[in-house]
Amino acid sequence: MLAITSTLLAVGLLARAQGTTDPTATYPATALADKRFDYPDGIPYKSDEDHLIRGIQVGYNLCNSTTEGPESNCQTSFVNSVDDFCLWGPPEPNSRIGDTEGETVAWCTKPGRGTRLIPPEALKGVQFMKTDAYVQVVGFIDQTQINIQTLDYGGEMDPHGADLRGNPLGGLMYTTAFGDGNTWEQVIEWHNFMGSDMFCIKACDQSNEHAADFCEHIYDRIGCAFNAPNNAQNGTFESCEGDVQDYPGVYTDTNGEVSTYTQPPEGVEPTLTWAARTPSSSNCVAYTSSELFSALASDGSSGSGSTSTSSRTGSSSGASGTTSGATAGASGTDGNGASSTGVVSMGGILSVAMAVVLLA
Ligand SMILES: *[C@@H]1O[C@H](CO)[C@@H](O)[C@H](O)[C@H]1NC(C)=O
Ligand SMILES: *[C@@H]1O[C@H](CO)[C@@H](O)[C@H](O)[C@H]1NC(C)=O
Repeated sequence: MLAITSTLLAVGLLARAQGTTDPTATYPATALADKRFDYPDGIPYKSDEDHLIRGIQVGYNLCNSTTEGPESNCQTSFVNSVDDFCLWGPPEPNSRIGDTEGETVAWCTKPGRGTRLIPPEALKGVQFMKTDAYVQVVGFIDQTQINIQTLDYGGEMDPHGADLRGNPLGGLMYTTAFGDGNTWEQVIEWHNFMGSDMFCIKACDQSNEHAADFCEHIYDRIGCAFNAPNNAQNGTFESCEGDVQDYPGVYTDTNGEVSTYTQPPEGVEPTLTWAARTPSSSNCVAYTSSELFSALASDGSSGSGSTSTSSRTGSSSGASGTTSGATAGASGTDGNGASSTGVVSMGGILSVAMAVVLLA
C-alpha cells in the first residue's frame, strides 16, 4: 500500500514537473515561442507536455528513421532552401486546415528527418527567397496530396495561437539558412499559410531585431498576398535573393510613403483597399522539379517527379504592387483565401479591390 502510494506520488510529481493537467485552463506556464531546444540533440519527445483546454500535443518532436513516412506525426519542421523545406499539413486525408491547424504535422521535401514526405508531383511551382531578415518559400501545390481538402481556402499556422501553444501545438522549426549557413538554429518566429492550392512559409532570423514584425502572426485572414507578398509563378521552380518586405500591416507606396492597415474583423466581408508591396528579387536560379526533388522520387514513397521547367534564370522582377505571384489573398473568414484580385489606381494610391469569394 505504501509502495503504491509513493509510486502514485512519484508519478504525480513527475507529471507536474513535465506539464500541467488542467483541462479548463487556457494558457500554458510557458508560451511555445519562449521555449528553446537545440537541434538535433536537445529535442524533447514533445515540446508541449501540458493538458489544457485545447488538449495535448497530438504528435511529437523527437523524429527519426523509425517515425519517417506516411504515418509520421512529427511536428518538427525545417526551412533551408528551395529543395529542403516543410509545410504544415493535416495528419488525416481530406481535412480542412481550419479544423486541424492545432494538429498539423510536418510534410517535408527532404528524407532523413523522421517526417512525412511531400509527393514530388504535388509541387507545381516553388520560389525560395533569401533576404537579410528571413527566408521564405512560396509555392503552388496539389493540396489534396498533403491531406488538405479540395477547395479549402485554408488558414495560418504559427508558433503563437490564441492560447500561446502554437498551431500546431508544440510545433518546432529549425533552419541552417542563417549565420554561417551550416548551423542548425531554432526558428522562433515563423508563419505558414496553407490553402487554395498555394502556400507560403516564412522563417525569420532571430538575430534581426524585427524578426517578430516580419513574421507577424495576427493577419490570419488575409493570406500570402499580404503576409508574404511575392512574385512566385505556377510552373516555376527557383531560388532567389530579395529585398525585405514591409511588415504585414504596413504598406510603403511607390513614393516611399508609409501607412498601416489592419485586417477586417472576423465575420466582416473584407473590401480591401490596399495592396502589399512586392519587394524586388534578384539572382534567381531556375530548376526543374526533378532536379530538386529527386530524393523524394527515389524514396519510393510516391511517383516520379514532374518535369516542369522554368524559362527564367537570373531574372529580376517584382515591381511594387504587382499582383503577380501567389496572391493567395483574402477570404471572408480565415485563411489563405481563394480570391480574385483586380488592380485599380485611385488618386495615386495603388489599391487592390479584392473580390472575395466566400467558400465557407
Ligand atoms: C525515435 O523517435 C521515437 C518517437 O519520438 C522515440 O520514441 C524514440 O525514442 C526515438 N529513437 C531514438 C533512438 O532517438
Ligand atoms: C498550377 O498549375 C497546374 C498545372 O500545372 C494546375 O493544375 C494548378 O491548378 C495550378 N495551381 C494554381 C493554384 O493555380
